[in-house]
Amino acid sequence: HAADAHRTDLMTITRFVLNEQSKYPESRGDFTILLSHIVLGCKFVCSAVNKAGLAKLIGLAGETNIQGEEQKKLDVLSNDVFVKALVSSGRTSVLVSEEDEEATFVEPSKRGKYCVVFDPLDGSSNIDCGVSIGTIFGIYTLDHTNEPTTEDVLKPGNEMVAAGYCMYGSSCMLVLSTGTGVHGFTLDPSLGEFILTHPDIKIPKKGNIYSVNEGNAQNWDGPTTKYVEKCKFPKDGSPAKSLRYVGSMVADVHRTLLYGGIFLYPADKKSPNGKLRVLYEVFPMSFLMEQAGGQAFTGQKRALDLVPEKIHERSPIFLGSYDDVEEIKALYAEA
Ligand code: AHG
Ligand code: MN
Ligand code: MN
Ligand code: MN
Repeated sequence: HAADAHRTDLMTITRFVLNEQSKYPESRGDFTILLSHIVLGCKFVCSAVNKAGLAKLIGLAGETNIQGEEQKKLDVLSNDVFVKALVSSGRTSVLVSEEDEEATFVEPSKRGKYCVVFDPLDGSSNIDCGVSIGTIFGIYTLDHTNEPTTEDVLKPGNEMVAAGYCMYGSSCMLVLSTGTGVHGFTLDPSLGEFILTHPDIKIPKKGNIYSVNEGNAQNWDGPTTKYVEKCKFPKDGSPAKSLRYVGSMVADVHRTLLYGGIFLYPADKKSPNGKLRVLYEVFPMSFLMEQAGGQAFTGQKRALDLVPEKIHERSPIFLGSYDDVEEIKALYAEA
């Protein structure tokens, strides 16, 4: 019976990726090993987040990071877990984390052919009130055998080979793309396994939700102001869009991916490059959106075509349903 088969034929994330990688004859399982270490990090953070309140894991760590943000205990703990998991995988050479000012260069004996950029805990402002937070990651391959340098991660997002996020919400969901579509896996805590629950996610071509921090409206530029006005007071008699804004990029993007609509973190007078970081927020989410049939735009160009010059560089971002992003692209083209 199909139902029984489903119950016993568990498609875990490891098995899924092994299937995907078997399409590349030259693959030797390195990516699968790398991913299994990222998955381990996500399981750890998921468990820490679920008992943060109990385990006195909320509140400040008493340090500030390169972003000038006060680090929360979970920011620091998650960062340590992911750095250690990635180094111990023996499959990475360069790591960039939101929480570390400099890139981490893995010692020669443990080097591998991947470079991982990641935001160990996204949505930190929501930790202490129990609102969904997440982890975001992007993966590049190292295309040489010399000493790794930051150049190995200062590449356009269109050179990423994989990207994903894990959302620690009412359930723990890992959403991943290795370039052949987007697939969602839900953690079954009783098994400690991520099980395929959302195969081949496609974002609706158009949505009726816009997601932006309206509190920055006085600082927006013309095209963003016009677009948001259109969402609220449509001229063509169509219904106004709903506003949904969690304040954790992972949660806002996950909702946009499943329900459709548009997520915006525009430039504003105070921050001309917006707030979100190119390598480990903009690129991975843009990669996923394109793989799901949506698109991602910076106000000037396709987000994945950006070439970062600094590892913590920021960019404005407009991403989501194909048709919705087309509208804002048209407004920026007129400007
Ligand atoms: P992080 O917690 O990793 O620093 O990221 C926070 C980001 C992102 O998650 C979210 O979309 C954005 O900050 C929200 O910013 P505002 O509070 O300015 O709207
Ligand atoms: Mn932060
Ligand atoms: Mn973040
Ligand atoms: Mn973060």
